[in-house]
Amino acid sequence: MNCAEFRKFGKEIIDYIADYCDTIRQRQVVSSVEPGYLKNLLPAEAPEAGDSWPQVLQDLNRVIAPGLTHWHSPNFHAYYPTANSYPGIVGELLSAGLGIISTDQFPNPACVELERKMMDWLAKILDLPKEFMNSSDGPGGGFIQNAASESTLVALLAAKNRIILETGVEEGNLVAYTSEQSNSSVEKAGLLASVTMRLLRTDEKGQLRGEVLKEAINEDIRMGLTPCCVIATLGTTGTCSFDQLDEIGPICQQFKIWLHVDAAYAGSAFACPEYRHLMKGVEFADSFNFNPHKWMLVNSDCSAMWFRDIQSNELFIQIPDSRRFRALKLWFVLRIYGVEGIRTHIRGQIALAKFFQCLVESDQRFEVCTASMGLVCFRLKGEDGRTKELLDRLAKRKNIFVMPYYYQSRLVIRFVICSRFTEEKDVVFAWREIKSQVE
Ligand SMILES: Cc1ncc(COP(=O)(O)O)c(C=O)c1O
Repeated sequence: MNCAEFRKFGKEIIDYIADYCDTIRQRQVVSSVEPGYLKNLLPAEAPEAGDSWPQVLQDLNRVIAPGLTHWHSPNFHAYYPTANSYPGIVGELLSAGLGIISTDQFPNPACVELERKMMDWLAKILDLPKEFMNSSDGPGGGFIQNAASESTLVALLAAKNRIILETGVEEGNLVAYTSEQSNSSVEKAGLLASVTMRLLRTDEKGQLRGEVLKEAINEDIRMGLTPCCVIATLGTTGTCSFDQLDEIGPICQQFKIWLHVDAAYAGSAFACPEYRHLMKGVEFADSFNFNPHKWMLVNSDCSAMWFRDIQSNELFIQIPDSRRFRALKLWFVLRIYGVEGIRTHIRGQIALAKFFQCLVESDQRFEVCTASMGLVCFRLKGEDGRTKELLDRLAKRKNIFVMPYYYQSRLVIRFVICSRFTEEKDVVFAWREIKSQVE
C-alpha cells in the first residue's frame, strides 16, 4: 500500500467509524452469531498475494460486523463502561500513525514528557495528594499503564520488594489483604506475585472496614506471617462500594504496610468535588490507580497509576520494555472536553442511573438493592428464580445487555450506564423492555 492508497483507505475508515457511531442506536446490542462462526468465513491461511483494501473493507462488513457486541450501544448496560470519544479515537489513530515508542534506553522526549504532564493534569483534576505528582519536589510520580490489573500487580511487587529489603523477611511468609468484593484481578496478582492474598469480609454496604483489617493483620502476625500490602477498592466491580480508606490508611501506616488503591471505574468521579469525600484517607496511599479508559472518555488502553515514591520502585513500575504514545489521546480528550466537559459527562451518567433507579422504585414488583455512581443493582421481589427467569428472557431477546450478580447471597441485575450515547429515552426503552418480560 502506498501513501496515496493509505489516504483513501484511512478516510474510508474514518467515515466507517463515524457511520458506525451515527447508527449505533439501531444495531442489536449483543451479537447473534454462534461461537466459532468465523471459522468458515475466512480461509485457513493468509493470502499468498496481498488483497486490495476495498476487498478487506468488504470482509469487515461480511465477517467482522456480525460478530460484534456493541459496547457503545446506548443499550449496553453490562460490566462497566469502556471509554470512547472522538478525540480519543483520533489520538489513538495518531499514536499509531506516528508509530513511536519510548524505552528506558531511548526515551522519546515528547512521549515521556507529555505523559508526565498529563499525569500531573489528571492528579490535579482528581485532587490527589501533591506528593503523587511528577512535578513535586519529592520522589513521587505517575505514568500510564495498560490496565488496572497490571497496576495492582506492580503495586504488589513493589510492596513485596520494599518489605523484603527493609526486613529481610522470607518471601513465603508474606501476606496481603483485600476485600471479598475486590476485582478478581487482585487475587490473580497475589498468585502472580506469590503473595498470599486474604479476601476479607465486607460490611452490609460491601465496604472493607478498618476493624476487620486490623483483626486479620493481628491474627497473621501471631501466626508468624508478615503483612506487606493492602489493596483497597474505591468503586468495587460488583456494586461500586467504597472501602473505608480513612480507617484502612492509618492501620497501614501503623503496621508499615503498603496501601494500594484500585479506583478503576469510580476514580473518574473524583473530577467532581461532590464525590471526593469517598476517597477520604487517600493521603495514606502508597500507590493509586484509576482507568481513564473506563469512565473518562479516553479509549482503551489508558490506566493511570501514581506512586508516592516512584524513584525507589523504578524496577517494578512497568513490565514491558517499550511504551506506546498513549498520552496523546489523553491530551486530546482533556484539551477538547476540558475538565468541565469531563464533569458534565460523569454527572450526566450518574443522573441517568438515578433516573433508572426512580423508575425501578416506582414499581412495587421490584426492589433496588444498591445504587452507586452509574450502577443500579435491582431484582424482582421474592425468590431468585423470578429474577433469573427475567434475566434469561432479556438475554434471549438481546434488546438490552445487562448482567447478573450475587449481592448478599441474592441474585440481582446489574444495570450500568455505560455508553456516552445513552440518553433518557434509552433508559426508558430499557425499563420498558425489562417490565415487558416480567411474568
Ligand atoms: C474495581 C476494578 N478493578 C480492576 C478492574 C480491571 O480493570 P482492567 O481491565 O483495566 O484490568 C475492574 C474492571 O471492571 C474493576 O472494576
